[in-house]
Order: sequence, then C-alpha cells, then structure tokens
Amino acid sequence: MNNEVNKIMGGILATCLGVLSINITANAIFHPVKPTKPGYAIAVPEVAAAGGQKGAPVQQDPPIEQLLASADIGRGQASFNKCVACHTFDKGGRNLVGPNLYGIIGREKGTVDGFNYSAGFRKAMKGPWTANDMSEFVKNPKGMAPGTTMTFAGIPRASERADLISFLNSKSDKPLNLIKAAQAPGGGKAK
Ligand code: HEC
Repeated sequence: MNNEVNKIMGGILATCLGVLSINITANAIFHPVKPTKPGYAIAVPEVAAAGGQKGAPVQQDPPIEQLLASADIGRGQASFNKCVACHTFDKGGRNLVGPNLYGIIGREKGTVDGFNYSAGFRKAMKGPWTANDMSEFVKNPKGMAPGTTMTFAGIPRASERADLISFLNSKSDKPLNLIKAAQAPGGGKAK
C-alpha cells in the first residue's frame, strides 16, 4: 500500500518536474527580450544647448552659435513674414495680436509696454531673450510656454530659426554679438 502511494507520489513528482523543466526551457527559448529602445527611432531635432554639447548625436541640431555664424538677415526677414500677421518689428511699432518685437533679443521676456501677456507665458518665461531661448520658443511656442496665446505651430528648421534670430537681433538699438553670447559659459540659457 505504502509502495503504491510512493509510486503515485513519484509519478506526480516526475510530472511536476517535467512540466517545470518544459516551462524553464520554453521560457529560455521564448522569453521575450524587451528592447531597451523602441523598434524605430524618430529623429526629432532638438535645439542644441550651447556649451557641453560638442559631439552631440547627429540627429540633434548643430549648436546655435554655429547656425548663427552662417545665418542670413535677409533670409530671416523673409521668414519673418510668418510672424507679421501678429507682430511688428519696427521701432515704436504697434502691438498687434502679439507684442512689438523691436529690440526683443536681450530684453527681459514679457516686458513689452502695453501688452497683456497670458498667464502661461508669464509663468514659464523668465530672464532675457537669448538666441537659444528664442530658437526654442520659435521652434515650439507651446512646448516652451504651455498655455501661451501665441498660436503658431513653430519653425522646425534650425537654420531658418537662426536666420530669423539674426534678423530680430538687427532690429534693435544695440544688436548683440549673438555668437559670442551663445558661447559664453551657460550659453545664455534662461535663468
Ligand atoms: C497668430 C499670431 C502670432 C504669430 C503668427 C506669431 N506670434 Fe509671436 N506672439 C503672439 C502672441 C499672442 C504673443 C504673446 C504670447 C502670450 O502672452 O502668451 C506672442 C509672443 C511672442 C514673443 C514674446 C515677446 C516678449 O515680449 O517676450 C516672441 C519673441 C514672439 N512672439 C516671436 C514670434 C515670431 C518670431 C514669430 C514668427 C516666426 C511669431 N511670434 C509668430 C502671436 C503670434
């Protein structure tokens, strides 16, 4: 009798072991290896922060000072046609849907007289307008200032943004040396 029980128990045990080993083997063979990255990489151009980004991955935009070095004010003015529905750029120009942008580069963000900025803009936008910040904002206004009332999709091409920034910088009583400013420690990033 005892012997019978032993045989049955043995059988069960053997079956269990068998199932277990099949399980282990199956797991070893079929266990999905989770990829560390998604199967496809979408190269989204990023605004390269100045400083410390030399040798950045290829899909990133070149540093802004590099783009500014080959920027063209005339091309920038042409590109500004995308902005004129809402912005003037001449000295003493009127605020339209957006504020007048004369002398905007180097100016504290959100300080154009008589313009009523949105709460989202005021909250997110601090410090002076550097080339880097302007590039980031024009690339994706809502990304940088969630809730901004600037309903503009953005300019994806980094070189076009650099042209535009050079143009805006020229519309000023004292245009900045943008390349030097971008190369300075901190790269003129927002404070
Ligand atoms: C559809 C209208 C519209 C267009 C087009 C538009 N803007 Fe604006 N822009 C605005 C509004 C509105 C604000 C104020 C945003 C807020 O208060 O949230 C603004 C704010 C800004 C500011 C902040 C100024 C400051 O005082 O700090 C900059 C810089 C700017 N725009 C640049 C541009 C540039 C460059 C373009 C073209 C590439 C452009 N905008 C196109 C409506 C527009």
